[in-house]
Amino acid sequence: MSSIAIDRPAAHSRASDPAAYWRDAYVVVRAETERRAAPLSAEDQVVQSMPDASPTKWHRAHTTWFFEEFLLKPHAGGYRPFDARFAYLFNSYYVAAGPRHARPKRGLLTRPSMAEVAAYRAHVDTAVGELIGRASPAALARIAPIVEIGLHHEQQHQELILTDILHAFDQNPTLPAYEAAWLPPAPTSAPGFVEIPEGIRTIGHDGNGFCFDNEGPAHRVLAGPVRIARGLVTNGEWLAFMADGGYATPGLWLSDGWAAVEAEGWRAPGYWREIDGRWHALTLGGLRPVDPAAPVMHVSYYEADAFGRWAGKHLPSEAEWEIAARGGELSDAFGLVWQWTRSAYAPYPGFVAAEGALGEYNGKFMINQMVLRGSSLATPAGHSRASYRNFFYPPARWQFSGLRLADYRR
Ligand SMILES: [Fe+2]
Repeated sequence: MSSIAIDRPAAHSRASDPAAYWRDAYVVVRAETERRAAPLSAEDQVVQSMPDASPTKWHRAHTTWFFEEFLLKPHAGGYRPFDARFAYLFNSYYVAAGPRHARPKRGLLTRPSMAEVAAYRAHVDTAVGELIGRASPAALARIAPIVEIGLHHEQQHQELILTDILHAFDQNPTLPAYEAAWLPPAPTSAPGFVEIPEGIRTIGHDGNGFCFDNEGPAHRVLAGPVRIARGLVTNGEWLAFMADGGYATPGLWLSDGWAAVEAEGWRAPGYWREIDGRWHALTLGGLRPVDPAAPVMHVSYYEADAFGRWAGKHLPSEAEWEIAARGGELSDAFGLVWQWTRSAYAPYPGFVAAEGALGEYNGKFMINQMVLRGSSLATPAGHSRASYRNFFYPPARWQFSGLRLADYRR
């Protein structure tokens, strides 16, 4: 696999010492969750600012439940659950795994306490370490795929810890900083466009390393001719869209998008505020003046689509995005903002969800959402790849979501 380990090479080879490899990978990924939660107080960690966002404490417990439910209960003989009630509290959406607490009420869970959740994590960590350590080669081969998906699942929640707390902080008139010294990564912003001539190409996961089920099967698509912008749309360009009446011109918007503009009162990206005639944005580092050179973020699909129409261009399809990214000519494809595509989140040809609870991971969400490609400043290291399909509902803008443009004109 590419690299699940964060910010350091794996000390052990997956092929020659798989037990050590998986124990190390597990420890590294679990520690990153705790590192991200560490700046947050107990009060910060219990708040739920909207049904779509979850409390930090819940993320820490739910990722732990995932290992308990799918790895330890079926594969660790004699494992004793930390607390039998936690399966109800921390199951997210797996119907096959049993009943669960209502998602919008996660913020009401003042108990278990943060300390109890920490003890839950430690209990499961010990059991997973022992399970891997005593597994025969055949048993390890059976459980390794579950450890692996559990770690990638936890990395997804690591990103959500940051996006969800930023949404909560935006509701607080004091506009707290997650980390006062936080700095965004600098864009490279190459100008111009990548040409994709008409042709049949293969997209989807190539079989090397881990992928989620929604990234396959790899299949051929007819794409092009199209030009894909090398760089991301910037705040400066977005300010021009705003100054040109972008948020006040219904003809630029999809019908549902214009309804959202009117209902939500949108006139700027999420977390933006005008102070003394100058736009500021709440970031992980607190309130900062909007940097015109930085990529725009916290825009919905509707806004990205309207911006494309205003610019005389449009969003690339996910296939066009992937072809351009695989060509290595996109700037900032990964690590700054997820990029909306014009593609609806649908199964690839030949996709069949797996049987059982883990088959619910992606497949049942393939309706009414749009695909985003790339990765963001909040995506953990080792969690980005060209075939990755992220997906959100069109009005969502609490993720680090931005865009790059495409142009069909010859
Ligand atoms: Fe989850």
